[in-house]
Amino acid sequence: MSRDVNLGSTMTPRLHPHASASGKVILVGEHAVVYGQPALAAGLPDGLELWASPLDRRTDATRLVIPEWQLDLVLTPDNDHPVARATLEVLGFCDGPLTGWRITGTSRLPSRAGCGSSAALSVALARLVLGDEAAPADIIEASLAGERVFHGNPSGIDNLVATTGGIVRFVKGQPAAEIAVKAPLPLLVVPTGIPRSTAAQVTKVRERLARLPSIVRPILDAIGHATDDAISAINSCNYNILGEIFTVTHELLSSLGVSCPALDSLQADALSAGALGAKLTGAGGGGCLLVLPPADPSPVIDAMRARGLEPLAVEVR
Ligand code: MEV
Repeated sequence: MSRDVNLGSTMTPRLHPHASASGKVILVGEHAVVYGQPALAAGLPDGLELWASPLDRRTDATRLVIPEWQLDLVLTPDNDHPVARATLEVLGFCDGPLTGWRITGTSRLPSRAGCGSSAALSVALARLVLGDEAAPADIIEASLAGERVFHGNPSGIDNLVATTGGIVRFVKGQPAAEIAVKAPLPLLVVPTGIPRSTAAQVTKVRERLARLPSIVRPILDAIGHATDDAISAINSCNYNILGEIFTVTHELLSSLGVSCPALDSLQADALSAGALGAKLTGAGGGGCLLVLPPADPSPVIDAMRARGLEPLAVEVR
């Protein structure tokens, strides 16, 4: 993937000084999307900002520092930290420089929590090489090289939303459809603080599908129907139904084996405090709970804080 735009007069690949990417929250459809069902995801603005500056010596190893994610990595070829490997994959895929830079990032998103931190990193890195004006399809393709290091065989939904932002209906292998919302949708994203591996969660579903196909296949189909019902509910601003869809989808995901006791009890607390609906988001097994709050979200926020958790209030549009 050679691009003239990236080559300076000395033909040494360079990085642009700044790039950014959105985080993401999957509203409905995670896991089922891996099997061709539709999913609905929204970009979280200000997901990740990266700045690049050249080191004095171009042969020195590139350093990646993102304090909020406790990352300070020297990108030598033998560094087997997944972030180091993914970063070099993306830079290499775009014919970018593999040495000689300091890349510094800042993020308001929790990492490894289902908010698309790894996709945001891969997308922002691709933009550091290819520039903001690069076609979204090229950014997505390059960023998937990094995402494969983290997640094996991702559906691509995280990378799409990290690139485009907004709310999108995604089906693997098909063009995505942007969903225009009549009013911004307020949500609470509650990080449980429990890290998990997306690849391991996806494997769990694959294995259960292989063992129990006649049970698991209809659950995946039902999650796909939930995505389209959620789009209708958003279009008609019917938040009671949208909330119920969130809650039912949590139960479906739970029966696929991708919830965990902490998420289940947090969901119960959110509903008792008046949430219109709540579900795990992303791979599950920890990560974040996604809550559709009532008009006054404070009782739900208080209930989450009583458990020592700090909800992130977002408006998706
Ligand atoms: C992870 O954010 C979403 C999953 O559906 C995996 C994928 O789509 O690649 C669990």
